Amino acid sequence: MCAARRRIDVVTVLPSLFNGFLDQGVLGRALERGLLEVNRHDIRDWAQGNYKQVDDRPFGGGPGMLLMAPPVVRAVEGVRATTEPEGRLIAMSPQGRRFDQAWAGELAREQRLILLCGRYEGFDERIIDVLKPELLSIGDYVLSGGEVAAMVVIDAVARLIPGVLGDDQSALDESFGPDGGLEYPQYTRPRIFRDHAVPEVLLSGDHAAIARWRREHRR
Ligand code: ADE
Repeated sequence: MCAARRRIDVVTVLPSLFNGFLDQGVLGRALERGLLEVNRHDIRDWAQGNYKQVDDRPFGGGPGMLLMAPPVVRAVEGVRATTEPEGRLIAMSPQGRRFDQAWAGELAREQRLILLCGRYEGFDERIIDVLKPELLSIGDYVLSGGEVAAMVVIDAVARLIPGVLGDDQSALDESFGPDGGLEYPQYTRPRIFRDHAVPEVLLSGDHAAIARWRREHRR
């Protein structure tokens, strides 16, 4: 069976930040093989006036600049309208719900995601009021923009799309813990590194003993 290609649209003022990230490794191969499509959209393309302004000072004072509602709302509505389905809209925000492996799994089953990246000090609240996105945080710290957070989401979601990881790796998935990492220590060559030797049992070829060792060393 051939699963439908997933699509992620990223709405940002810095689309070039994603260069490199999208070309390499697992993600680069997933895009090349057509399992996933990632489209970047520059909010400035929806800005008006000679200066194509996308940010402005907050009313009432305060530090920094806010992303303006008109270009951002036009951008998201424009991107949404380009194709079906409308997609699930998620805005990157340190005030959002914490992203985790379970949420990544849920998003990997969606046909289309639209990821909205904030910059500057945040969004004009009317962006949230009008578009009603889900808010997603990758952790309790403040980044200078949502782009790095969007990359985290794309990476975590892409590797859960069927076919993106090779058979070898998907077979290993059952050993992955709630955080998506392997639950036991692993080693590769060389057998001894700075007096630290690979546990003998892993070199023994005794699959039952290896499985037992891994169960005992779960963390
Ligand atoms: N934008 C700024 N900080 C962020 C965070 N921690 N998570 C998601 N988006 C952000």
